[in-house]
Amino acid sequence: MSTTLLMVSDHVVALLSGVAWFAAGVTLALRRVRTALAALVAAVLVTLVRMVTVALLAGRGWWFVQEKVLLGLPLLGAAATGAVLLAGPRLLAARRGRGDGGSAAGVVAVLTAAYAALAGFVVTFVGGYPLTPSTALITIALVCAAALLTARVVATPAGSAAEAGVAQVPEGRREIPRRRFVAWTGGAVVATAAGAGTGLSLLPTPSTALGGGPGLSSPATVSLAGLRFSGSPAPGGAVRRHVLTAKKATVRLPSGREIDAWTYNGEVPGPAITAVQGDLIEVRLRNADIEDGVTLHWHGYDVPCGDDGAPGVTQMAVGPGADFVYRFRADQAGTYWYHTHHASHVGVHKGLYGTLVVRPRDGTGAGDQSPAQRMDLTLPVHTFEGSVVIAGRDGRTVHDASPGEPVRLRLINTDSVPHRIVLAGTPFRVAAVDGRDLNGPGEVADVSLHLAAGGRCDLVFVMPYTLVALVVDDERDGGLLLRPHADAGDARVEDTSGLPELDLLGYGAPAAVPFDARKADRHFTMVLDRGVAMVDGRPAYAQTVNGRGHPSIPDQLVAEDDIVRFTVVNRSLETHPWHLHGHAVLILSRDGTPATGSPLWVDTFDVRPGETWEVAFRAANPGIWMNHCHNLPHAHQGMMLRLRYDGVTTPFGGSHGASPGHGATT
Ligand code: C2O
Ligand code: CU
Repeated sequence: MSTTLLMVSDHVVALLSGVAWFAAGVTLALRRVRTALAALVAAVLVTLVRMVTVALLAGRGWWFVQEKVLLGLPLLGAAATGAVLLAGPRLLAARRGRGDGGSAAGVVAVLTAAYAALAGFVVTFVGGYPLTPSTALITIALVCAAALLTARVVATPAGSAAEAGVAQVPEGRREIPRRRFVAWTGGAVVATAAGAGTGLSLLPTPSTALGGGPGLSSPATVSLAGLRFSGSPAPGGAVRRHVLTAKKATVRLPSGREIDAWTYNGEVPGPAITAVQGDLIEVRLRNADIEDGVTLHWHGYDVPCGDDGAPGVTQMAVGPGADFVYRFRADQAGTYWYHTHHASHVGVHKGLYGTLVVRPRDGTGAGDQSPAQRMDLTLPVHTFEGSVVIAGRDGRTVHDASPGEPVRLRLINTDSVPHRIVLAGTPFRVAAVDGRDLNGPGEVADVSLHLAAGGRCDLVFVMPYTLVALVVDDERDGGLLLRPHADAGDARVEDTSGLPELDLLGYGAPAAVPFDARKADRHFTMVLDRGVAMVDGRPAYAQTVNGRGHPSIPDQLVAEDDIVRFTVVNRSLETHPWHLHGHAVLILSRDGTPATGSPLWVDTFDVRPGETWEVAFRAANPGIWMNHCHNLPHAHQGMMLRLRYDGVTTPFGGSHGASPGHGATT
């Protein structure tokens, strides 16, 4: 059974147990003996089933059950036991014709079990992992308060003392003071627990997570503003200059459809930036009329931190009329992309993105000039108003390719959700993932590829004498068609929806990796979920990391040259494409199963619901780096934190998303 199915079953069972306990409580209050007894038995059974689902889920990782094991179940268990002991005997007696089965205490106890069941369910959704003492105290206080209130309602005027059932008290007169006493002490206990819980929640939390490594060593010495590129191209390399002007524009797609886009230079995607390894890339970003401000982030490219384009961290956002110059050397070959990082859930979606492709320098240094006879297509996939647009074209695009010609398709997912990619009509290899070449990629056919939001893959093959189709999300009318000759027709694309997914963790040949991930200097666990948390100073139903939202998630502290390990756990029911700036991470395992194929270096990996990923990297690029979910609305809803090198500070505020600086410049 998949972890997701277990999580969902547990939610369902938890909900059912709440319903059953409520049903038992209400029917008992109404003295429906048979129904109450049946509901009570059902409630007990569902509660036992709940223990089983939690135990099964615990097998998938402590993160999935912590709050259930430490709070939800003990609370429910205690209340349920009390309920059975107080209500059970009378109900049984009533079935045998003695009494009416009810007592105030019994009703209160059964309803308290219902509150406990409900509370456990709510804590899972609102608080999640990790369970804090404050959440525990407040929850217990709320359940007790509900129980006291119920006692008041159930045991008031209408009922005589005997009916109120505060059991074997012989005279009604002694009843009142005793009830008062219970109410007062109960109230005091509840108030204390609630107060303590609230107090604890207000305590300042550590702003930095150390991951088991040493704390801040030195007084901060390096400012991010100084971590800019200042060198020149490699010998023989060129300087590639671009000016990108962010502006609103109406863009006409090939189908004739017009979209109101936010663009770089009036185009979507923005101008393609290409270079040969060793070239210097210099891009002047101008902002014409994007009021919110813009930046350029070089997704997957390990630029110096000051050129990373994270507003409020590595620079101020570039407001209308302002500009900013990015410079870096194109040392990494491969397929990358750029996009705004300011309010990116809006900006990227509306079109503020483009491609960055760096070709390896061959012996002649000719790089991108030489392969004239090879077809090399860069294909950013973006969804505008519901339709998939590939490299700026909607509908189906047809290319002519000569049989025997080597073809490389560079797919880039610029959306916030994954795409399913199928290459039909030819065997192919996945030559590179996230810009980095795979080792010994074997030929595959009739498989689909899962392309994470922000991720890339390069597919290579030799053009056959027959049609080849690139199919995105099994959409047979769109995509790309490569024809070996003009009269090859426009054949119907086969149905690709049943093709199995190629698991990249087992693809290609193993090879040595540059460090031993088992000897990590720091280890950070990020549990991804939804919950109530502060996001940018406001309470929200947030996308959380370890129960918190940006910018209240502690920074992860690393020192230069540390081997850093991440455990990323997805407790939610949505996919989270995890993305660290400035570094590629090596995939170690998924759900405890080690990666066995080519070393897989990625900058974005999809953590699907219920999954646990282990990745590692060497901290070799000093700075303060955003570390976030690349489902950009999720990042905006809190799922974003910083990885900070010891000794580095930022003069830009430190909280991602600071408002535009007008007149900001190089
Ligand atoms: Cu492509 Cu921080 O993002
Ligand atoms: Cu996400």
